[in-house]
Amino acid sequence: MTHSPFAARRQHLADQIGNGVAIIPTAPERVRNRDTHHPYRFDSYFWYLTGFPEPEAVLVVAGGDRPQCILFCREKNEEREIWDGYRHGPEGARETFGVDLAYPIGELEQRLPELIADRSALWHSLGHDSEWDTRIAAALNAVRAQSRAGKRAPREIRDLRAVLDGMRLIKDSSEIGTMRRAAAISSAGHARAMRHCRPGMAEYELEAELTHEFRRRGAAGHAYTPIVAGGANACVLHYIENDRILPENALVLIDAGCELDGYAADITRTFPVNGRFSPAQRDCYEIVLAAQEAAIAAVRPGASFMAYHEAAVRILAQGMADLKLLPGSVDAVIESESYKRFYMHRTGHWLGLDVHDAGEYKEDREGGEWIKLAPGMTLTVEPGLYIRPAADIPQELHGIGIRIEDDVLVTTGGCEVYTDAPKTVADIEDVMRRD
Ligand code: GLY
Ligand code: MN
Ligand code: MN
Repeated sequence: MTHSPFAARRQHLADQIGNGVAIIPTAPERVRNRDTHHPYRFDSYFWYLTGFPEPEAVLVVAGGDRPQCILFCREKNEEREIWDGYRHGPEGARETFGVDLAYPIGELEQRLPELIADRSALWHSLGHDSEWDTRIAAALNAVRAQSRAGKRAPREIRDLRAVLDGMRLIKDSSEIGTMRRAAAISSAGHARAMRHCRPGMAEYELEAELTHEFRRRGAAGHAYTPIVAGGANACVLHYIENDRILPENALVLIDAGCELDGYAADITRTFPVNGRFSPAQRDCYEIVLAAQEAAIAAVRPGASFMAYHEAAVRILAQGMADLKLLPGSVDAVIESESYKRFYMHRTGHWLGLDVHDAGEYKEDREGGEWIKLAPGMTLTVEPGLYIRPAADIPQELHGIGIRIEDDVLVTTGGCEVYTDAPKTVADIEDVMRRD
């Protein structure tokens, strides 16, 4: 066994499954069109346990007194390596990735029954991939067919995600280091977009500035489809066309983060296309910024996952009242949820290998409460205000859409904000100054 974080995670998994056996396949390659593939992205659970980057690979972890980790992967193949690139092969993979045994992927079907036989439970992400569900059923049946030879199939099929999601919720020091770097690269991308923004540019030109900065600094690319939304496009929460001209006197909202060594950053910044906030834009922006500051202050160990959302909602509701967007007291606005007309999403989510990362939000028991924050959890804090044009809304607020999103690590003393793209009105106007 090596002392890599991957080996430590495999050991931890083995410790939790008793005499059971876990099967973790990586993601398949996906055809884009005809003979062209999407860029390959491994499965996050598989990567978390192996760091093995090739497709057509499966990890089997057998628990018990003498736990074993077995990797199935592609064999070396000179012809295919000329066309598609290096393959570790089972022997190379065993040495480099520190697994106990490695076999060619072609032997999986034949070896799986013996690996699962006489185990108390089989752990798998059932329902994630129907082809795999069929394979697991076939392996179980192959063992059952040997019952007269004294073999027993596992009686229990258990959801592997229940174990791995709990592990992934608390980031280890290796993950925290990677996420800090992903955050730094992504922050630089947003600062670059601010510096290059000019009225008359197309949204995709700003997207290109982010892509440039991400790749220039060694990230794999975007962790998710970026949003570059000029003016009222920002009020469409999942706007991804990014093909309009940026209006001179509007704001532009950019939601983009890079993926580095499998880990996502997730940042949103909103800034004026011409480099100067109008009074109405500034009023709205300051409300969202205050909501974000209040929410970040509510991120600390022991606080409920809901607490920081509630902190943001209170400030936003007060702001909506101040802007005369909604009648009634702040308490009434919160009670009736009328604020949802202008703020309709949650204030954040877990962040890690997946941008909306694995991990429960409520305790895993009957009547469970919202999860309590604990050191090592990583989440986004992303309040927003989206004012779609309507007859009852003051004209100067029409089409203002603002979100401010940062990535935050829960620490023993409170939290650490990973991301540091320009955020205050003064900092944004400073970085965009052209004289
Ligand atoms: N970029 C996805 C999100 O903010 O949730
Ligand atoms: Mn987010
Ligand atoms: Mn985002």
